[in-house]
Amino acid sequence: MRDYHEFLSEVLISEDALRQRITELGATISKDYADKGPLILVCILRGGVLFLTDLIRKISIPHAIEFMGVSSYGVGGRESSGRVRLTLDLGVDIAGKNVLLVEDIIDSGRTIDAVMNLLATRGPASINVCTLLDKAERREVDVPIKYIGFSIPNKFVFGYGLDLDDYYRNLPFIGVVDLEKYSPE
Ligand code: IMP
Ligand code: MG
Repeated sequence: MRDYHEFLSEVLISEDALRQRITELGATISKDYADKGPLILVCILRGGVLFLTDLIRKISIPHAIEFMGVSSYGVGGRESSGRVRLTLDLGVDIAGKNVLLVEDIIDSGRTIDAVMNLLATRGPASINVCTLLDKAERREVDVPIKYIGFSIPNKFVFGYGLDLDDYYRNLPFIGVVDLEKYSPE
């Protein structure tokens, strides 16, 4: 695998900026859900993992975490296939609970739309979405998003949970890929 410096065109969101914004989101969520009953944060694997683990450390009210695996991309693809496959389901019943979905990025909106429709059939008290990044220009399905970390332009990004062909999720910042300089090998 190549060193990411070869195809990083810019750091779009720095580690500091991420930390600050996530602290704000955690405070807002803590306030909004105080005294509202059981709260479960449902992280969408795998991109949302870094965001979830940083976010929950900034949430001051009691809550549980759960994971859901979905895959919407073909192998090596950078476009949503439009079909969303469930690869891992929740381990608990969400009936009567407040569900907050935690996503890395909302692009076409297909993934989160499919997840919301599925979970809505299980009788939760509420379902809302918290996404770190919103690429609104690319939206194909209208989904209500309660919390947005950053609205970003229509560029392919990686790092901080987001992958480039499954790699580079560990980078502590969000970077833009120069697709002319990048090729998987
Ligand atoms: P959607 O179904 O088109 O909204 O796609 C959402 C999923 O696509 C996200 O959870 C990401 O895994 C992936 N994705 C969309 N845009 C990017 C990007 O710029 N970089 C990395 N992954 C992305
Ligand atoms: Mg994802």
